[in-house]
Amino acid sequence: MKETILVTGGTGFIGSHTTVELQEAGYNVVIVDNLSNSSASVIDGIEKITGVRPAFEQVDCCDYAALENVFQKYPGIKGIIHFAASKAVGESVEKPLLYYRNNINSLINLLELMPKYDVKGIIFSSSCTVYGQPSEENLPVTEKAPIQKALSPYGNTKQINEEIIQDYIHSGAPIKSIILRYFNPIGAHPSALIGELPNGVPMNLIPFVTQTAIGIRKQLKIFGNDYGTPDGTCIRDYIYVVDLAKAHVKAMARILDTADTDAVEVFNIGTGRGLSTLEVVEGFEKATGVKLNWEYAPRREGDIEKVWGNVDKANKVLGWKAEADIDDVLRSAWKWQKKLREDGIQ
Ligand code: UD1
Repeated sequence: MKETILVTGGTGFIGSHTTVELQEAGYNVVIVDNLSNSSASVIDGIEKITGVRPAFEQVDCCDYAALENVFQKYPGIKGIIHFAASKAVGESVEKPLLYYRNNINSLINLLELMPKYDVKGIIFSSSCTVYGQPSEENLPVTEKAPIQKALSPYGNTKQINEEIIQDYIHSGAPIKSIILRYFNPIGAHPSALIGELPNGVPMNLIPFVTQTAIGIRKQLKIFGNDYGTPDGTCIRDYIYVVDLAKAHVKAMARILDTADTDAVEVFNIGTGRGLSTLEVVEGFEKATGVKLNWEYAPRREGDIEKVWGNVDKANKVLGWKAEADIDDVLRSAWKWQKKLREDGIQ
């Protein structure tokens, strides 16, 4: 058995997939999650896939004392992967303090506890949202592209947290960090035992697509067809959640097993390829054989026109590459939606 890793937000979408990949790579996982946007039943799904039940503590990372208890109860935690965060862009505009409090305090608590419990490193979930709309010459966007003023409190918490990590390590704190800037994570584990479970009306494209396909939503709206892109719809870099999860395993191994790396490193995690919203919608229909009811609607406020990643650094330095085929990814999302229906969940 390899080291023990603390996964905050481990019952969430990316956290659960990463827990599976960590376990399959031989790590021992302790999950903390306050279950504010997920369910403890996700642990059952993880156990069914890997045959190992991860330890679970229902703890809010903003609660310093409760978080410290976790480090005492599970001695020897060597690494942290910090997913736990509020993540709805629109909600963050309405409730900025909630977002600043949750997302920033939880990181500060973890950072403070790390030296005390001899935790070597932390992987932080950041987002391509920090680049805003990159200029033409900066597409595909590299890690060196300028950070632009965030368009929402959610996006701002990602930028601030990146800076907090940089400043803390710069001050001489004896820890390392890898900041992963995700593009758009989609899909579900091929087993359909874990996947994305949005609360209420989904804001993200793929859950809205699958919920429309199964009849929960009447019609998908494609937000804007007058953008400066070949088909007029927005372009994103859609990364399979299992590939994304594997990037965390590579990053954790780099932190724990590789000497002489910089104390803070930043990697884009995407496919390196941009797909338009229309291409995704038509791709879903083709891959699943299900017709979608959709129409064009006005642009969504705050949307970026086009962004996709240059992922050379992750390919070379982490030795990681997105491998999944987009048709398989879209089918995995559909399989998961059908499983939710079978189980009477959605
Ligand atoms: C959103 C967040 C981003 C966050 C990311 C996490 C916004 C503005 N940005 O990114 O900060 O890091 O989620 O996953 O919310 N679309 C439709 N119809 C729909 C839903 C989406 O046409 O019903 C389009 C959008 O206009 C966009 C694309 O699909 O062009 C992807 O949208 P979405 O899944 O919400 O992701 P982002 O907006 O890229």
